[in-house]
Amino acid sequence: MAEAGESSHGCENSSDSEEDRCSDNDFETSKLGTREYWEETYQKELDTFTDIGDVGEIWFGEESMSRVLRWMDKAKIPESAAILDIGTGNGAFLVELANHGYRNLTGIDYSPASIQLARQVLQAEDLTDVTVKEMDFLNSQGKLKGFDVCIDKGTFDAISLNPDNTKEGKKLYVQALKAALKDNGFFSITSCNWTKEQLLERFGEGFEFVQELPTPSFKFGGKTGNSVTALIFKRVH
Ligand SMILES: C[S@@+](CC[C@H](N)C(=O)[O-])C[C@H]1O[C@@H](n2cnc3c(N)ncnc32)[C@H](O)[C@@H]1O
Repeated sequence: MAEAGESSHGCENSSDSEEDRCSDNDFETSKLGTREYWEETYQKELDTFTDIGDVGEIWFGEESMSRVLRWMDKAKIPESAAILDIGTGNGAFLVELANHGYRNLTGIDYSPASIQLARQVLQAEDLTDVTVKEMDFLNSQGKLKGFDVCIDKGTFDAISLNPDNTKEGKKLYVQALKAALKDNGFFSITSCNWTKEQLLERFGEGFEFVQELPTPSFKFGGKTGNSVTALIFKRVH
């Protein structure tokens, strides 16, 4: 099982200047923002899983899942909570959530190969009660609602890199998230492209900041920084 390090592909945040912050063009767009890229990626991972049972890349590493699970424990999120994994990829987070006791789980992804892979990965773990659906989150309003917790690990990053609709995509994402979450429901986001300040601004309306989850930090030139940001928000009106 490959682990994508905490500062992996597409994770270069090139925006430093104050005026660039939260503009709609904070970094260069990339193929990581396209459905074709993910379809090809998961098609290869599907072949590998079929051949040798390796689920493929764990974005930001295992710890990125453990830290969210630790927060869920502390926040006393009940095992019956309705949880949505936005852009589930290989479904590895769904497996972790199910093994942690959560039993109302849904994963969506716009890549058909990802959904096929996630289904096979879940099946191999005997987790047949988990719902996985092929769906573009940006066109999901009305189809996804009533979730207690929405989890995003790398998906808002990917959407932000879309060469065709980065501006529109980010707006649609926020709208879809608002529609999917119950009032007072929680949103957990792990991002390598956006800083805490940028995420606070992006999810400033309709959400209340709850807390930042500690991520590994590095020191460079006397300054301390984090390569990954993990935040929790609550849906409010
Ligand atoms: C960086 S990967 C992360 C996958 C998974 N969350 C993980 O942590 O391993 C980004 C995922 O977002 C999915 N994705 C990107 N845009 C999407 C969209 N508009 N709707 C649904 N899924 C999307 C991609 O197919 C890919 O699976």
